[in-house]
Amino acid sequence: HVQCMIGPSILNSDLSNLHSESQNLLDSGADYLHLDVMDGTFVPNLTFGHPVVKCLRNKIPKAFFETHMMVQNPQQWIEPMADANVDQYTFHVEPVDNVPQVIRQIKEAGMKVGLAIKPKTPVDVIAEYIESADLVLIMTVEPGFGGQKFMQDMMPKVKWLRENYPTLNIEVDGGVGPNTIDECAKAGANWIVSGTAVINCPDRKQAISTLKSSVQK
Ligand code: DX5
Ligand code: ZN
Repeated sequence: HVQCMIGPSILNSDLSNLHSESQNLLDSGADYLHLDVMDGTFVPNLTFGHPVVKCLRNKIPKAFFETHMMVQNPQQWIEPMADANVDQYTFHVEPVDNVPQVIRQIKEAGMKVGLAIKPKTPVDVIAEYIESADLVLIMTVEPGFGGQKFMQDMMPKVKWLRENYPTLNIEVDGGVGPNTIDECAKAGANWIVSGTAVINCPDRKQAISTLKSSVQK
């Protein structure tokens, strides 16, 4: 199967050193950075927004930035995130009335589009929009916090997507580490977010290479 991209989530890193933590992850083999934006309403936690992402972008001009928008009103942050030179804007469809409109605005702002769904959201909710998206994110924990247990029962969603959309980028996020990455890849995921499994490891280079080698060819 296809090669997996590893995107560490910096959520549980030392956020007072966001630049050095991010640079360290990129130097350690991260293929992209997964930036968890939470508004305290869509999820019961609060992180950072576009001002912080923009500062980070100024220090790290080249890496691929994905913002995972766990927010009640994703439309509101499209322009500011585009201005921060975010590459991919991945938003949850659950609170959105007009998904095609949000997709269109993200594209017009020059970013790639990711569609995210929570564990309780069935995949057919997004089926009609998949053709116009660059990636689908299947959450494998309830969004809000790092360090939760991987939900194996999300794998049928990934399989269904892979069977029906052979070239789609499919991302998984939540509880993914050396013991769970292989089943994600087998099901068809090719973009892998990993938070605490990488961050809590003192040697991030080792952690990322262990993840990559845990995918059985
Ligand atoms: C959870 C976030 C994840 C989280 C992953 O709401 O979207 O990106 O940081 O962390 P782990 O890998 O520890 O579950
Ligand atoms: Zn995330």
